[in-house]
Amino acid sequence: MAEQYDVVIIGAGAAGMMAAIEAGKRGRRVVVLDHAKAPGEKIRISGGGRCNFTNIHASPKNFLSANPHFCKSALARYTPQDFVSLVDSHGIAWHEKTLGQLFCDDSAKDIIRMLLTEMKDARAVLRLGAQIQSVEKTLSGFRVVTADGMIDCSSLVIASGGKSIPKMGATGFAYRIAEQFGLPLIETRPALVPLTLDPAQLESLSLLAGVAVDAEARSGKAAFEEAVLITHRGLSGPAILQISSYWREGGDIRLGLLPRVDIAALLKAARRENGRQALQTALAESLPKRLAQFFTETAGFSNRPLADLSDKGIDAFCLGIKDWTITPAGSEGYRTAEVTLGGVDTRALDSRSMQARDVPGLYFIGECVDVTGWLGGYNFQWAWASGFSAGQTV
Ligand code: FDA
Repeated sequence: MAEQYDVVIIGAGAAGMMAAIEAGKRGRRVVVLDHAKAPGEKIRISGGGRCNFTNIHASPKNFLSANPHFCKSALARYTPQDFVSLVDSHGIAWHEKTLGQLFCDDSAKDIIRMLLTEMKDARAVLRLGAQIQSVEKTLSGFRVVTADGMIDCSSLVIASGGKSIPKMGATGFAYRIAEQFGLPLIETRPALVPLTLDPAQLESLSLLAGVAVDAEARSGKAAFEEAVLITHRGLSGPAILQISSYWREGGDIRLGLLPRVDIAALLKAARRENGRQALQTALAESLPKRLAQFFTETAGFSNRPLADLSDKGIDAFCLGIKDWTITPAGSEGYRTAEVTLGGVDTRALDSRSMQARDVPGLYFIGECVDVTGWLGGYNFQWAWASGFSAGQTV
């Protein structure tokens, strides 16, 4: 005998828990199945353990998708302010770190506890350690076969996330279900991910491992101004994670270091004051010391006094700092990617409810859908908003 529920949600992550809360509040009998031992594991590790749970500036322009309009409806129906109100109603203290990014003051676990409390209040059932064996269409809905038995439901919500961090249980399950029901997929790739360099590049930058600097990172038309971190493997830091979502293999990343500082003007002023000062010393007034050394050595200007350089010479030298072009060898892949770009093609989904257009009762929400946010709380906002939208209809 199969158990009967109105709604089965596969995945107790951000999106699945939000959908469960909303569907439960509407009186639907909901069960959430997850193969993990604990719910919301990505919430727990997010934002360095403090969960950057939303971004107050979230708008459709902060998301990548083959159809940039798709996310508009859900984002308008459930806004960052709606989530902040929920957080406030649970007395969870938070702060804005930078650029509209809201973090818990204390711990990401507060967000998980809040969602679990809301689920309990909405009478949604949570089953962990659930091994899903198959999903089948029935006359009245769906049958989910697990290692512990069968569950029949009229609405099935796939909230099992993307492929990022397989060590944490990411499986690509959602894409297999989409394929099973004939929904198209947009090719997936790791996003918000550090970029790697080849051994020769790493050798030439070895002096710089561990150096962080503010920069504008550009790839094609996309540009992000934040910190860049040079690592033993390549490039990281928020500006690189952001631009990685736009970068494609073989393409360049262009870095404009210290975008708000006119380095050439500073060097010219320093030369006027003291022409005997070494270029490297003057440069180290604005750039980290090791970067100053790297750029002067690379240009063959080690130990050169400023007086040796003409205005044109300084301008040409600074171009290398303001338009530093690097061709990454690849990315660190799903092992460290924060999210998965691509996924279930939004053309197959109704943007109000997240329901598959051709398979009534089947829903896809959260990261498995081809909607990917920038770094900075946008991905959770998409999880909350798409989960909320499905929760109103299932
Ligand atoms: P999510 O991956 O959260 O949940 C999917 C659930 O499905 C998991 O519980 C999983 O166990 C389960 N599952 C998978 N396959 C299954 C199967 N076959 N059977 C049963 N269950 C299955 N975003 C942001 O906005 N702010 C931030 O601070 C961060 N920080 C951050 C740090 C790190 C290290 C990572 C990896 C990611 C972030 N993110 C983030 C991104 C954010 O975590 C991500 O966008 C959301 O968790 C996506 O929510 P979902 O509910 O869609 O999937």
